[in-house]
Amino acid sequence: MKIIAFGGSNSQHSINKHLATYAAGLFENAEVEVLDLNDFAMPLFSVDLEKEVGQHEIAKAFLAKLASADILVVSLAENNNNYSTAFKNVFDWSSRIDKEVFQKKPMLLMATSPGTRGGASVLEIGRNALPRYGAEIKATFSLPAFNANFDLEENKISNAELDKELKNLIKECF
Ligand SMILES: Cc1cc2nc3c(=O)[nH]c(=O)nc-3n(C[C@H](O)[C@H](O)[C@H](O)COP(=O)(O)O)c2cc1C
Repeated sequence: MKIIAFGGSNSQHSINKHLATYAAGLFENAEVEVLDLNDFAMPLFSVDLEKEVGQHEIAKAFLAKLASADILVVSLAENNNNYSTAFKNVFDWSSRIDKEVFQKKPMLLMATSPGTRGGASVLEIGRNALPRYGAEIKATFSLPAFNANFDLEENKISNAELDKELKNLIKECF
């Protein structure tokens, strides 16, 4: 079973990439590949640029990575209650090639932020919108107050209750 995991962020120190990496590692008998959205950087999408360049090769490469997965583990960064520009840009370019961006893959959709809402707004946006783009969301999880609840040295959720919640979700939903 292959898992493709990524944080919806282009931050070099993305807390969502940390969470996605940790959660993907909880699946049993899985080969995990963690993507970095910096490897899928493209110019800001515009219909005018699209007329010039057509389907972007990097978006094709992103879609090919998603196609190689049995399960997607995604953790969305929240910027101004919404997707990060980096995620939205790769999403926009990819959706012009194939509207089923997430290709009917079972998805664990998460979000985390340093605040106590844990990216609740972007998680809700993703939960509503991504199924219209081929995501089969099996479970959602928000990790509030990342700095208090995630141990960056051990690379794991340090809050035992939240850790148990995530592990149970994975066991029950996948
Ligand atoms: C432009 C900008 C807007 C932000 N807006 C929000 C927000 O609406 N809600 C929130 O909880 N955190 C917000 N944050 C803080 C992010 O959650 C924080 O930077 C987090 O580390 C982003 O995830 P990442 O590290 O995976 O990129 C914002 C950060 C930036 C730079």
